[in-house]
Amino acid sequence: MPKTHTPLKVIEQAVHLACRAPSYHNSQPWLWEYGDHELRLYVDADRLVSTDGSGRQALISCGAALDHLRVALAAAGFRANVDYYPNPNDHRHLASVTTSTISYVTEAHRRRAEAIWMRHTDRLPLASPPDWLSFERSMRAAVADQPSLVDVLTELDRTDLEEASMLSESLRMYDSAYHQEMHWWTAPFEVSDGIPHAALVSAAESDRVAIGRTFPVTHHRERRLEVPEDRSTVVVISAADDTRRDVLGCGETLSAVLLEATLAGLATGILSHVTEVPASRDIVAELTGRSYPQVLARIGLAPALEDAPVRTPRRPLSDVLHYTTKPS
Ligand SMILES: Cc1cc2nc3c(=O)[nH]c(=O)nc-3n(C[C@H](O)[C@H](O)[C@H](O)COP(=O)(O)O)c2cc1C
Repeated sequence: MPKTHTPLKVIEQAVHLACRAPSYHNSQPWLWEYGDHELRLYVDADRLVSTDGSGRQALISCGAALDHLRVALAAAGFRANVDYYPNPNDHRHLASVTTSTISYVTEAHRRRAEAIWMRHTDRLPLASPPDWLSFERSMRAAVADQPSLVDVLTELDRTDLEEASMLSESLRMYDSAYHQEMHWWTAPFEVSDGIPHAALVSAAESDRVAIGRTFPVTHHRERRLEVPEDRSTVVVISAADDTRRDVLGCGETLSAVLLEATLAGLATGILSHVTEVPASRDIVAELTGRSYPQVLARIGLAPALEDAPVRTPRRPLSDVLHYTTKPS
């Protein structure tokens, strides 16, 4: 495919927007490199969360950033042509992206990019999403090009999911490395990465979301009392095969699901603690009938009249985007 000359400003803005993607503990484990009209995405080995031994959470995070990039470029009038794992000798090189022009940028392209700014991880209880069937139709259309498998859990599956959540937490109760790492990423002094305290929940709030990960608790006035307990619908994203390419694809699918929900006015949260421990992952695998569940999304309704959520920080563009040829 011939490479289109995309203005550098467009590339920089698209990468800036792509980096608003969700990432494991807000670790932002990506590195972008631009040169010769090609943008390359690498997983940054220096930013892996140490308890993410397989690097799975980092791959999912990078996949989400790749899909965000696609959305951002489309809103600027460019199609992203993605070559996955172009270098068989370097598995950190996840994708190379060249661009071609789109004949017309639609309102839908623009709204999807705007959704990137609106999306955030909501850990408070969510009310049940209204008109799920119509949302599910648009969500399935949004992920149709992806190789990942998407399953919606039913109300009946909820007890098993709660059990999986409890099991994963209890199996790691004495895992010092896990808890130390989580405390590090939620320390209050970080300015460009990690999860700020305002985005976490108090013990009482956490009790109202039985399927959520237990983070270090914060102490503040109990919020969203009008939603006494979480009634979100849970979507499970699974890889077709246990390959790096398929796990990366789960991240792209996660991004598509979250943005579609945001566009529909729904709030979202992400759950991966249940897939990190084999015993709880097996429960999720049984619920979905899939061998390789990777990540779950809670989708529901947050009250409209609430204070704007804190925006989680991101690393400066100069840290994450490098140039192989001097930019003009
Ligand atoms: C692969 C992955 C796994 C995640 N796992 C969890 C989780 O188990 N629990 C949770 O509350 N948030 C989880 N998150 C959400 C991140 O903490 C969140 O994306 C990050 O702090 C940035 O905040 P934002 O999503 O509001 O921009 C996960 C995100 C990703 C991409």
